[in-house]
Amino acid sequence: MVQVLRVTEAQLEAALQSLRAGELVAFPTETVYGLGADATNPAAVRTLFEVKGRPAHHPLIVHLAGIEQLREWAREVPQEALRLAERFWPGPLTLVLPRAAHVSDAVTGGQDTVALRVPSHPIARQLLAAFRGGIAAPSANRYGRLSPTRAEHVREEFGAAVSVVLDGGECQIGLESTIVAFQGRRARLLRPGAVTAAQVRQMVADLGVGADEASPRVPGSTSAHYAPTTPLIIVPAGQIDVRAEALSAGGRRVAVLAWRAPLAAHRSVTWINAGRRARQYGHDLYGNLRILDKCGCRWILVQDVPEGEAWRAVRDRLRRAAAANGAEGEAEVGKR
Ligand code: TXA
Ligand code: MG
Repeated sequence: MVQVLRVTEAQLEAALQSLRAGELVAFPTETVYGLGADATNPAAVRTLFEVKGRPAHHPLIVHLAGIEQLREWAREVPQEALRLAERFWPGPLTLVLPRAAHVSDAVTGGQDTVALRVPSHPIARQLLAAFRGGIAAPSANRYGRLSPTRAEHVREEFGAAVSVVLDGGECQIGLESTIVAFQGRRARLLRPGAVTAAQVRQMVADLGVGADEASPRVPGSTSAHYAPTTPLIIVPAGQIDVRAEALSAGGRRVAVLAWRAPLAAHRSVTWINAGRRARQYGHDLYGNLRILDKCGCRWILVQDVPEGEAWRAVRDRLRRAAAANGAEGEAEVGKR
């Protein structure tokens, strides 16, 4: 695999000019591609929401060049949050902290907290170091859709609406960052990712998992997220062949994402074997779903993945994708 590790001076300059002019720049991170705007420019941030089609009250992650910028954006940094930042930055971890006074409502969705992350992808680092300020960036996909893990995905999604797309090849991790919120009495893991709950617990004595009533809003945990347009249904692991066979009867096309090969050849079934290794499966997940989404199938059936920590982030994204369109799909499939 060819990894492009730096952009040219000319590309970097074009990206900086766009950011300074209040325009958007798509850039690679180690998790997924981000669609960036100058976090101190509320008009630029509004453009971001418009282009993405995202409801305006949903908060964004501010990307920083290094840990030394943390206190410019957070007015309070609990000891445990600092230890996490020291251990995992640059890397796939986002910290939600009480915001500094200057952080605009456009970025935080009017909340008193701000989400911060120092990404490790060399091109993201190159851009952030040169820009010096914070770059507010959601994943570079239209609202509710699959996150992009290659520059082509961003171009497909936005076309001319985003003029600068920095191409850093394939994202190394492929799933969005782990989010840990420090607000109220207890730290909470709001979104599982490559940094696991067990790793966070090494630095945080008391970690809640999932949102509670006191948690800030996390639209990424609402149902219509990370979803292909084809209805996606999770099937118990042992039933995947039987269900694929039954649903494709009569020649209807069905897509399958599984972690093993089919037991027999099924006609009218497009089957991807994504393998049994959680990290590789997660790395390939959005790309595989994009491929299956394009093959003209009535459903995407996903063989349920194993329990356990290694699969947690993958399970989380699959469940959200299924929730986006699965209720109706599930009922329909259940009848057959
Ligand atoms: O890996 C990632 O985190 C990628 C790359 C581009 O950095 N970004 C990403 O951004 O996934 P986005 O906007 O798609 O998801 C950000 C998540 C959302 O679920 C949002 O609700 C949550 O972060 N978030 C942002 N600010 C927050 C806040 N103040 N409190 C709670 N959650 C927040
Ligand atoms: Mg997103």
